[in-house]
Order: sequence, then C-alpha cells, then structure tokens
Amino acid sequence: MLKETSMTRSGLNIQQSEYQTLFELVPCLITIQDREFRLIRYNHLFSDHFHPEHGAYCYQAYKNRNSRCEKCLVAMTFDDGKSHYGEESSTNVDGSVTYWIAYTSPLKNERDDIVAVMEVCLDITHRKQLEENLEKSERKYYSIFNNMPNPMFVLDIDTLMVLDCNESVTTVYGFTKEEIINKSFVELFPEDEKNSYGLKMRAYSSLNKVKQLKKDGKAIFVNIRIAPSEYPGQKVMLVTASDITQRLEVEQQLIQAGKMATLGEMATGIAHELNQPLSVIKTVSSFFIKKISSHEAIAESTLNDMLIKIDNNVDRASRIINHLRNFARKSEVIFAKVQVNEILERALAIFSQHLKIRGIEVVWNIENNLPVILADPDRLEQVFINLLVNARDAIEERWKHAEPVKGDKRIIIKTSREINNIKIEVCDTGTGIPKSILEKIFEPFFTTKDAGKGTGLGLSISYGIVKDFHGSIKAVSEENNGACFTITFPIQDSTDGKTNTAG
Ligand SMILES: Nc1ncnc2c1ncn2[C@@H]1O[C@H](COP(=O)(O)OP(=O)(O)O)[C@@H](O)[C@H]1O
Ligand SMILES: [Mg+2]
Repeated sequence: MLKETSMTRSGLNIQQSEYQTLFELVPCLITIQDREFRLIRYNHLFSDHFHPEHGAYCYQAYKNRNSRCEKCLVAMTFDDGKSHYGEESSTNVDGSVTYWIAYTSPLKNERDDIVAVMEVCLDITHRKQLEENLEKSERKYYSIFNNMPNPMFVLDIDTLMVLDCNESVTTVYGFTKEEIINKSFVELFPEDEKNSYGLKMRAYSSLNKVKQLKKDGKAIFVNIRIAPSEYPGQKVMLVTASDITQRLEVEQQLIQAGKMATLGEMATGIAHELNQPLSVIKTVSSFFIKKISSHEAIAESTLNDMLIKIDNNVDRASRIINHLRNFARKSEVIFAKVQVNEILERALAIFSQHLKIRGIEVVWNIENNLPVILADPDRLEQVFINLLVNARDAIEERWKHAEPVKGDKRIIIKTSREINNIKIEVCDTGTGIPKSILEKIFEPFFTTKDAGKGTGLGLSISYGIVKDFHGSIKAVSEENNGACFTITFPIQDSTDGKTNTAG
C-alpha cells in the first residue's frame, strides 16, 4: 500500500515536472493573473522579455500603464468564464512596437469558481510587418495603377466584366468608376461591333484604331493592349487603352492636305481631260448654230447622232468631276474588298494625261484576276497617286538637262500574287534615291525638293495608309538608276471574312 502511494506520488511528480518544463519552454508568453490582474505566475519567455518586478500587474509589465486597459481579455474571461482572443500591441523600451495575439482561458477550483485567468501571447510583429509592407506595396501599385494617364481595366477573363479600373477611365470615357464596374467591357464598343470585339478581345493581345463610345455618345479611337494577369484569387485580363483620337485627327488633316496638294499637281492634266469633252460639245453646238442661222434643215439621224455625242461627253465630263470630288472628299476610313488593279487604273485615269504631256510612258504589267484585299479604295488611290507624282518628279529631275530617247522616261506598274499577299510595284527611270536618305524618305516632312514643290508628306501619308490596311511598303533604289516602291497587302480570306491580323 505504502509502496503503491509512493509510486503514484513519484508518477505525479514526473508529470508535474513535465508540465513545468512545457510551461517554461512553450515559445509564447504565458501569464496567470488574479482578479486584480496581478501576475501570479509567468514563464521564462515572459520574464526574459519584460523583467517584471515581484507582484507586478499585467498592464504595468506589458504596457507600462497605471491602470488596466480599456479592453481587457482577462477581465472578459473573469466576467463570462469563457476564452477570448484578440490582437494587442505594446511599446518596448527602445520605442519599437511589438504586436501580439492573445488568448485567455479561465482556471477554476474544485467548486468551479474562476480563481485565475491564463493569458497566452504570441509575438506576431514579424508577420505584422510583412502585412504592412504588403499593404504599402499594394498601395504603391494601386496608386501607380490609378495615376497612369491611360485608362486601365481589370476584366474577368470569361465574361469580360469590369472588376476594377483606374481614374483615367473617367477622364477619357466620362463614366465614373461606379458606372463602369460590373458592366461588360464590350459595352464601350458601338452596338453593331460588340459581338465581334467580344471575340477579338479573347483572341488577340492588341487591337488598333478601335472605335469606342464615351458616356456622351461621342466616338473615340483607341489602341488596346491586353495581357493575362492574376487578381486576388482569379485569372483576369489587364486591358490598357490609349486614346489616339487626336492623333488620328491630325493624320486625317495631313491626309487631306496631301490630297489637296495632289489635286493642285494634277490641275493641268485635269484641265486637259475636261477640255476634250468640252471641245466635242463645242464643235457639235457650233454645228447646230451654223445650221439654224442659215436655215438649213438637219437630218433626223444626224440630229440623233450629235445629241448622243453631246450626251456621252457630258457624262464623260461629269465622271471626271465626280472622280475629283470623291478624291477630295473628307471621308471616314472604310474597309472594303478591293481589287488593286481597278484602283491602279483609277489612279492613272486622272493622271495619265498629265504624264503623257510630259512624255512619260506608263508600262502596265498586271496580273489579272487577283484576289481581293481589305482596304479603303479612296485612300489606296491616294497612295498610288503619291507614288506616281514622285516617279514623275524623279524622272523630270533626271532628264532635265539630258536628251531622253524613247523609253527613257518610263513608269512601270506591276501587280502579282504571292502566297498570302498581293504585291504592287511602281518603278521609274528617275534619279533614284541615294542610299544615305533611303531610311528617311518615309518620315513626315522629309523632302529633297525645293520649297513650294515638295511637302515631304506623300510617302509618310502613304506609309500610314498602307499600315492601316495591314500592308507593308518599302523602297529599293540605286542612285541614278531609278527607284522601285513595293507594296504588299494580305489577301482577304474569302472563307472566314477575316485577314490574319486584328485591328
Ligand atoms: N520615285 C522616287 N525617286 C527618287 N526619289 C524619291 C522617289 N520617291 C520619293 N523620293 C524621295 O523621297 C522624298 C520624300 O517623298 P514624299 O514623302 O513624297 O515628299 P515630297 O514628294 O513632297 O518630297 C522625296 O523628296 C524624294 O527625295
Ligand atoms: Mg511626294
């Protein structure tokens, strides 16, 4: 019996010392407090950290206060007998702040009265600092996001719903953040283009010269860049839009100025063109006047023939005038299926007389039945006219002082089909382009011509137009040996109605 008791006691002793060790070694601060918040017991970690005096109070040790904290977890546990949890902070001797997570639980006697409360505190300062750093960096990136001059949207990758956007969206589109969040991004496109842009947004990483509508219904043009990204817990699209409306307006004005310059260039040729139908009409009407004044009868068949001649020539004159009117018109850019051979013929129609007067021969080397491309016929015509004007200038310059023989002054126009492209070449027997300036000729305002003659806009406008229709333009030349301009356009795929690039 005695032996048994002593064995139980030694067992209890072992257990107690184990608990004691645990109490001391647990990597958190443990205190046991009475109703006055006096520290009855605490572990090593606590005493190492706070060095409390004998009989010190919790609020003295932790916070160097003279009275209990307003919100006190220990007091709450004494009141309701339950465990409580919360975050605390205390200022250290060196002024730095330590953050804690605190848990309290009641300690009861055999009669179930709460005699003390145990508080366990865990130092979370490091985690807190990480959280603060994260918050700071989030704030920093958010402020960059917000202050970007270009509108930025965060879209749900499946629905294209706007999850977030920056403040520039309001400046550019006129919608407030509240008005745009939770709406689909495709709502910004014109009604009849919403579906197709919904598809393109998912298929391409960039869309150029896209028309969108502002809150007031006015159209703007933007370049859109799309990048996949992560937004807390979900895959998103990050979309930036740059407003290029003003730039396009300036380009538009330049194009218009270029057209006017070309019209000026063509004035003599056009006058000659118009003179032909006019002289036919004049001859016929003089004939009538003469007959009538001499009271001579006119045979009905002659009358008929003459009137048909007048009719045809009036038509011819109005065709020339309409062509000019169309060419000079300010027009919206359109994408139409275009047969390049037809446009080349049209460009040459208003220019051929002009070249003929100057003794310049045009050699046609056209591949028939070419597939169509997607472009704006009026703009394309302007590109070809610009190339013809330049070829004319180069030829005139080269043969200014020399005595050309037949065939020396030539413009060669060639079209052909490559695998996915249509190729157009406009070559001439002019001065050629010196190597040193070959790189510069497509720059706006670059000209080697005298003031008043060259504007330096022809090739830069042409370059912009060709690019708009996803084509390319380049020049090859040897000095004194003529120049060759090659333009390519992707063939419009008749099966799906799309070219292979977006925008
Ligand atoms: N066919 C050509 N032959 C020789 N030089 C050319 C030819 N086309 C263009 N150039 C050169 O490129 C320059 C820029 O052409 P462009 O942009 O049309 O402006 P501009 O004709 O008003 O000078 C010309 O001034 C000329 O030096
Ligand atoms: Mg030019």
